[in-house]
Amino acid sequence: MTKIFKNLILLLTIVAGVFYFSSCEKYTYIVDKRIPVIDTTGNDTTNLVKFATEIQPVFTAKCISCHKGTRNPDLREGNSYAALTGGGYVNQPATGSKLYSMMTSGSHSSLSTQEDKNKILLWISQGAKNN
Ligand code: HEC
Repeated sequence: MTKIFKNLILLLTIVAGVFYFSSCEKYTYIVDKRIPVIDTTGNDTTNLVKFATEIQPVFTAKCISCHKGTRNPDLREGNSYAALTGGGYVNQPATGSKLYSMMTSGSHSSLSTQEDKNKILLWISQGAKNN
């Protein structure tokens, strides 16, 4: 009887141990989704809005029917970044920049969504990078 009892205690200890260590394992493998991505110049680029994949598509879909070279700024892919930075459209503060002001006022404000406008604002406030 005591032998069975001892074996039972031993078994319970093993089972408890297995649960204890497996639960530890769960927590050590949680991955931080926002691990900083440091670029070659040492800047943290984790949450930067990307010009090529997030900003240019807005211009391409909603602006180049008119801004295609004959009207400033030229927002066609390949020309837009130079046109915006060279033409002083993305100066700080972002809320006062020519690009954001134009996109949020008059008839232009209905041409893009609030999400587009927020993205543009964030991109300019992050320094309007050609990334
Ligand atoms: C239907 C044609 C049309 C579309 C589409 C259009 N624009 Fe314009 N945009 C104009 C015209 C016309 C002007 C001249 C100024 C005005 O409207 O008063 C202008 C002016 C601007 C200016 C100011 C230029 C300056 O030098 O003062 C900016 C910046 C601008 N647009 C950005 C955009 C952006 C960004 C989009 C897309 C979300 C866009 N536009 C879509 C017609 C258009």
